[in-house]
Amino acid sequence: MTDTILIVDDDKSLRYSLERMFEERDMTVITARNGEEALERLGETLPDLVVMDVKMPGMGGLEVLREMRKIYPKLLVIIITAYGTTETAIEAMKLGAYDYILKPFDIPHMWQLVDKALEVNRMMKTVVAYEQTEEGGETAECIVGKSPQMQEIYKMIGQVAESNVTVLLRGESGTGKELVARAVYHHSLRANRPFLPVNCAAIPDTLLESELFGHEKGAFTGAHTRRIGKFEQGNGGTIFLDEIGDMSLPTQAKILRVLQEGEVQRLGGTENIKVDIRLIVATNKDLEKAISEDLFREDLYYRLNVLSLGLPPLRERRGDIPELVNYFLKRFNKDLKKNIVDLSPEAMERLVSYPWPGNVRELENVIKRAYVLCKGSRILPDELLLDLGTAKKISMEEEKGVKKGLEDLLNEVYREIKKVSQGHNIMSFIEKALIARALRETKGNQIQAAKILGINRNTLRKRMEKFGLKKEVNIIRNS
Ligand SMILES: Nc1ncnc2c1ncn2[C@@H]1O[C@H](COP(=O)(O)OP(=O)(O)OP(=O)(O)O)[C@@H](O)[C@H]1O
Ligand SMILES: [Mg+2]
Repeated sequence: MTDTILIVDDDKSLRYSLERMFEERDMTVITARNGEEALERLGETLPDLVVMDVKMPGMGGLEVLREMRKIYPKLLVIIITAYGTTETAIEAMKLGAYDYILKPFDIPHMWQLVDKALEVNRMMKTVVAYEQTEEGGETAECIVGKSPQMQEIYKMIGQVAESNVTVLLRGESGTGKELVARAVYHHSLRANRPFLPVNCAAIPDTLLESELFGHEKGAFTGAHTRRIGKFEQGNGGTIFLDEIGDMSLPTQAKILRVLQEGEVQRLGGTENIKVDIRLIVATNKDLEKAISEDLFREDLYYRLNVLSLGLPPLRERRGDIPELVNYFLKRFNKDLKKNIVDLSPEAMERLVSYPWPGNVRELENVIKRAYVLCKGSRILPDELLLDLGTAKKISMEEEKGVKKGLEDLLNEVYREIKKVSQGHNIMSFIEKALIARALRETKGNQIQAAKILGINRNTLRKRMEKFGLKKEVNIIRNS
């Protein structure tokens, strides 16, 4: 699907060069010479992005923007402004403009803003369906999986979406945190308001603060003008703070304040600005550990942890793998114009038993690579490029985990039996119980019982005599 861009500028040459720039990437371009025309165009087609000069004759850019956002609150608008009119740009940001660029600008810088805005637009626009409802068949994106763990997630999404509470999403990398964040947003009462994602790990800390809260002119070296942060800009909407576990302590303190007071201060500013924002946050970090290492504020943790959704690793819901594979095949068939119908049973078997350290994202990538390599209509085991080194390490970890679990269980059983047997010989106590159990399960078949217990039949017979078990079993058999 190509993106549609509306260019609004009274300057013909600028309009023309922007038009060429976007058409070079096969985007659909609509143009308007002034504000009135822009609003008219909007009535005909809703674009994915508007690029607009604020200084135009007739209806001013700000007025147009206000009108646009009133009718289409999620419309993303990049403002073009000249030096000396930055105040207008700032006003525009307060009105919810997505970003602004100073004239004269270079094309790479414009692309940077445009690409980011289009990405945000895609996130807002693509409804993430869950629970495989009929709408799921139509939309491009869907949360797939019928395992009990995923059912639990769907239930939680349904419960939390419509309230304004902060939602904390936890889970290993690639488990679908971002997908669920968007599902929560799409099913919330704010679905027709903006959704602004911010990746806390991708932005250096000082910049992150000003990205979120904005700054006043002169707040720090390089702060030549005032800036409006995401909290002000997205007022009334939802902010998705991804990788919040990577946020520095001072920034955490400011987030806590927003949650407690519902207000922000721009960096270097004194004014308290009321904001109405719903927060969705995500992390793959162990926050409890971060707290114990003084890297994460405990008070913020308690604020965030009220409603937390833990997304299960894929290896703990292997039953969902076939459905996910089919879902990805269908999507690739649609986008990449091949027709691959399925996987050979051995190939599927391999996928189901692989431990998936990178979770659903890794599965998606493995299927995509196989898809490209695949010559026929069925993917074969050789076409799956699985990282078996890591896989082995993980399955050893898992095995260790199982062993550890068994050991814990044994300790518990030992304590219980010790209580019950009260001075009796524990070994005999357990031995007798195990043998009786094996005999019961095999309905007294000594050959089978010996096999289960891993002893030979003679030993079994001797033990049965010792514990006087023969009779008991006979009684059970005859009854
Ligand atoms: N249950 C699911 N059904 C369908 N697709 C999924 C599911 N879970 C994850 N995906 C897909 O896997 C990829 C990774 O998901 P996402 O980006 O939401 O993970 P994440 O938890 O945010 O990972 P990270 O911590 O690495 O950012 C995306 O392409 C997403 O669409
Ligand atoms: Mg993510």
